[in-house]
Amino acid sequence: MCGIVGYLGKKEKKEILLDGLQELEYRGYDSAGIAVIKDRKLNHFKAIGKLKNLREKTRDFSSEGFGISIGHTRWATHGKPTELNAHPHLGQYSYVVHNGIIENYQALKKELQEDGAVFLSQTDTETIVHLFEKYHQTSNDPFDAFQKTIERLEGAYATLLITEAAPDTIFFAKNGSPMLIGFEEEDVYFASSDTPIIGKATEVYYLEDREYGYAKKGEVALFDAQGSKSFQKQTLPTDKAMAQKDGYRFFMEKEIYEQSSVISDTMIGRINDEQIHFDELESDFFDGIDAIKICACGTSYHAALASSYLFERFAKVRCDIEIASEFRYKEPLLDDKTLFITISQSGETADTLEALKMAKRAGLKSLSICNVDNSSIVRESDAAILTRAGIEKGVASTKAFATQAMVLWMLSLYLADKRQMISREQKMIEIDAMRRTPKALIVTEALHGKLHRLSKRYLHGHGFFFIGRDIFYPLALEGALKLKEISYLHAEGYPAGEMKHGPIALADSELFTIALMPKTLHYDKIKSNVEELSARDATILAISPEPFELADDFIQTLQSTHPMLEFFEMMVITQILALEISIRLGNDVDMPRNLAKSVTVE
Ligand code: M6R
Repeated sequence: MCGIVGYLGKKEKKEILLDGLQELEYRGYDSAGIAVIKDRKLNHFKAIGKLKNLREKTRDFSSEGFGISIGHTRWATHGKPTELNAHPHLGQYSYVVHNGIIENYQALKKELQEDGAVFLSQTDTETIVHLFEKYHQTSNDPFDAFQKTIERLEGAYATLLITEAAPDTIFFAKNGSPMLIGFEEEDVYFASSDTPIIGKATEVYYLEDREYGYAKKGEVALFDAQGSKSFQKQTLPTDKAMAQKDGYRFFMEKEIYEQSSVISDTMIGRINDEQIHFDELESDFFDGIDAIKICACGTSYHAALASSYLFERFAKVRCDIEIASEFRYKEPLLDDKTLFITISQSGETADTLEALKMAKRAGLKSLSICNVDNSSIVRESDAAILTRAGIEKGVASTKAFATQAMVLWMLSLYLADKRQMISREQKMIEIDAMRRTPKALIVTEALHGKLHRLSKRYLHGHGFFFIGRDIFYPLALEGALKLKEISYLHAEGYPAGEMKHGPIALADSELFTIALMPKTLHYDKIKSNVEELSARDATILAISPEPFELADDFIQTLQSTHPMLEFFEMMVITQILALEISIRLGNDVDMPRNLAKSVTVE
C-alpha cells in the first residue's frame, strides 16, 4: 500500500504532487519523494517520515512551465523506511515510482547486478528502473524499453517512470494495484485513487490490469496485450469525502470489502508452488524453539487464539496465548526455548509492547506480526512479519484481523514444514486453500442485502451470544467484539460446548444466538449445542452451508472443503451484520464512542 501521483502540464508541479500525496498519506507515511523534469533538467527530493518533511525540503523549489513529474508516499514492504529506500528510485538517467510487490525482483536484481547495475536501495522497485535502462541502452527507444520492462515483471504493480531520454513523457503501467489517469484540457494526472485529482481533472480513466502506455504533451496512448486501445473516460466525482471512501458509506465498510484484495497482498511473494516463504525470517530462526507464547489485545488476541489451534495441529508445537495486560502482572514463568510472538495492528499498543519488553528481559526470542513497519513493537522485536493490510481507518478492526489470521495460518504451516510435521499432501491442501481465500472474502450484493434486511430484527433483546467451536470459537469472540464496539449492544463470544455449563440459563426468545456452524469442523457437535439452545426458545441466527431447520434466521454459506475458507467467509458475515445493526441504530460506525484506534496507555 503506497500512494502515487503524477502530473504532466504547465502548472506548478511541486504543489500538485505534494497536495496529491497529502490525500494519499493514509496509504503509507514512512517516507515520500518527488521527481520533476523541466527544461530537460531532472530534480528530485526525498524525505523520511511524514509528508511535512518533504514539504520542508522542497520549500525553495519551484517548477512552473511545461514539465513532467511523479511523486510517491511509501508504506515499506521491502527494506526499512530510509531515504535510500524512498521512491522515486533512480537509475542513471531515469526515475520510477511503484506501488505493489515485484515478486521476481530477486531474480531480476541478480541478473541486473551481473550486467553491472549498482543498486542503492533494498527495494523490489529499483529493479524496474535498471531493467528499463538496460533495454533502453540496446534499443534506444524509451517506449520499447518500457514495454520490455513490464513484460518481465511478475506480481503487482502500479508504476510511473520518467527518463531524461524522453523528457516530455510519463510512462505508466498497472497490474493488480490501483491507478487512474485524470484529464483536464492538455493537463494529465495520475493517481492511486480519485481524491488527489478531484477539483483538478474533470474526466478520469481507471486503468485495468495489464494496461500500460505513455502520456506526453497533446497525446496519451493506452495499450494492452492486444495492442492500442481507446480511453472510455468517465466524469470525475466532485465529492472528496465520498471519494476517499471509494463510494462506501463508512471506512469500515470499505475495509470489509477490501479484504478480498488485501489478503492477496498478504500472501504475495510468500507462497511459492509448494512452500511458504518469509524473507523476514532467517532460515535458523526457529532453531532451539520448542514452544510458542503469543501475547496480544482485543482483535489481535482473537487472531492469536485462532492460531493456537493451527500451531498445535500442524506444527505440533505447544502454543499458549495470553492477553497482554494479564500477562504483564502474573509473574509468568518464561523459558528461553519459547518463541515470544506479539500481534498488533498498530504496533503501539502499550500492554503488548510492555509484555514484549518483559519477555526480552527474560531472554526470549521475539517475533512480531504487525501492520505498521517501524512501529515500536516492530522495532523492539528480533524479527517482524508485516501483515500488509494497508492503513485501517475504522476503529473496529476488520482487514487487520483477516490479514493477521492469514499470516498466522501461513506461519503455522511454515513451522510445520521446518519441523517436518506435515505431509506434502496436507501442505498442498493448505496452500491450495490459501490461494482460494480471496474468493471466500468476496461480499456479494445478495449477501449484503440479506444482512441488511435481517439486521432490523436484532436491534433490541437482552444480549447476543456468538458461539462456535475450535477456530470458530475465537471467531465467535471476534464477531461479538465487533458487534459490541459499534452497536453498543451486549454481546459475548462463547465456546458452543460451554453454553450448557451456565450461560444457557439466560436462554429465552430475547437472547440472540449467532451460531457459527461450519460443515468441515465438528458440525454434528455444534448442531447439538444449538439444538439445546433452540429447545430453550433462544432466537437462533445460524450461519452454515447446511440448512438448519431450527434456525429462526439462516445465512447459507458456500459448501467449502476447508475450515479456514469457512472461517473467512463467516468472518465477513459477522462483520457486515455488526455494520448493518450499527447503521440502523444511527451510531458512528468509524469512530465508536469511547474507543481509540491505537491504545498507547495501560
Ligand atoms: O493495534 P492492536 O492490534 O495492538 O490493538 C489491539 C486492540 O486495541 C484492538 O484490536 C481493538 O480491540 C480494536 N478496536 C478491535 O476492533
